[in-house]
Amino acid sequence: MSNDLMEKIVSLCKRRGFVYPGSEIYGGLQGFYDFGPLGVEMKNNLKRLWWDWMTKAHDNIVGIDGAIIVNPKVWEASGHLKSFVDPLAECKKCHKRFKADDLAGDKCPECGGQLTEPRLFNILVPTQLGVIEGEKQTAYLRGEACQTIYLDYKNVLDSSRVKIPFGICQIGKAFRNEVTPGNFLFRQREFEQWDLQWFCHPNEMEKWFEYWKGERMSWFKSLFTHPENLGFYQHEKLAHYAKKAFDIEYTASPVGKEMEGIHWRGDWDLARHAEFSGQDLSYTDPETNEKFIPQIVETSGGVDRMFLFLLLDAYAEEKERVVLKLNPKVAPYKVAVFPLLKNKPDLVAKAREIYQDLRKDMNVVWDERGNIGKRYFAQDEIGTPFCVTVDFDSLEKGDVTVRDRDSMKQERIKIGDLKEYLGSKMN
Ligand code: GAP
Repeated sequence: MSNDLMEKIVSLCKRRGFVYPGSEIYGGLQGFYDFGPLGVEMKNNLKRLWWDWMTKAHDNIVGIDGAIIVNPKVWEASGHLKSFVDPLAECKKCHKRFKADDLAGDKCPECGGQLTEPRLFNILVPTQLGVIEGEKQTAYLRGEACQTIYLDYKNVLDSSRVKIPFGICQIGKAFRNEVTPGNFLFRQREFEQWDLQWFCHPNEMEKWFEYWKGERMSWFKSLFTHPENLGFYQHEKLAHYAKKAFDIEYTASPVGKEMEGIHWRGDWDLARHAEFSGQDLSYTDPETNEKFIPQIVETSGGVDRMFLFLLLDAYAEEKERVVLKLNPKVAPYKVAVFPLLKNKPDLVAKAREIYQDLRKDMNVVWDERGNIGKRYFAQDEIGTPFCVTVDFDSLEKGDVTVRDRDSMKQERIKIGDLKEYLGSKMN
């Protein structure tokens, strides 16, 4: 897969309303993007699928939605103030900074100037709270969304019926002063994460770590067009909080591959927060009375990265069309409805009736521009799995043409059977 493909995806995303560069009319801001009308539908589909899978397909998982700004002490306790750093070298001539890991030698890759020795830069994004100059308090936008889960762990235990082993899940924004944002959605400064923190008995860590590795991989595989492009990567260099870490990767990516991290966080987070807050964050088993600090398996993924990888994976160029072969569950629209001719009121009225009825159950788009062939290709390019055309036979016989995006085959289906037909094809 080439960078050429990446360029095509970036262009399609802007042209068709999936993703726009952030604050573009002011020249943009590196590492920030906005999701357009189609992008927000697709991203919401992903988040809904993840949320339902976590909270409905598994026992003993509850959700929270935590604050983006937390007490600054959290970042001391979590280790991020000390360890969330990138070593950078600065060019003495052009003053640009580069990640030490990306450099070969001591000369600036842009102007050839002499580089300084690498120094550490923290990538938490600071902000100021308060209104009086000189008395403002420095806080940080959360560098990883999961921290609020540890902060709420005791409240969740006290206010719900969960018992170990149990999980708390959350979808939310995270912010990082990435030194080298780039590659479109892959490395942003503002992005969204979905996290599960699974709290368990120390003796059961190995079992649950393997369980969640398997579960997460099978979830991703169920949604990608080419599941064979997914794999595991085991980290040797570990983040400060992890004892063991695997990534789920999109191996065909032309940029970075990491999509989700499965991390053995052990008791690092709860023990540190207990120490820094002075609170008792241990758990007492209601049956055995054993008291212990739960250990944590984390599955922490990037919503935007999955979004990008799904588009790269689904994109295909075939003879005269570009098609996104997205899983119907992920596609922004499930069905497009057209009247064969837009100047025939009877056809338009029947098509509108079908459109309104389908809309009660799924995301449907209306199109009456151009000819049918052009409408099909326009829907292919945004991944709409089915197109329904209302023609003169529909008025007489009560059936419509349903065209399948991937096979391009057309079938006549009775209007009364349409919902069932589409439902069966999509699940
Ligand atoms: N709580 C653990 C944690 O944050 P991470 O590996 O740093 O772990 C988890 O991040 C996931 O968040 C990554 O696998 C990736 O999908 C996503 N992610 C991290 N940095 C990102 C960035 N700058 N832009 C987009 N997504 C990012």
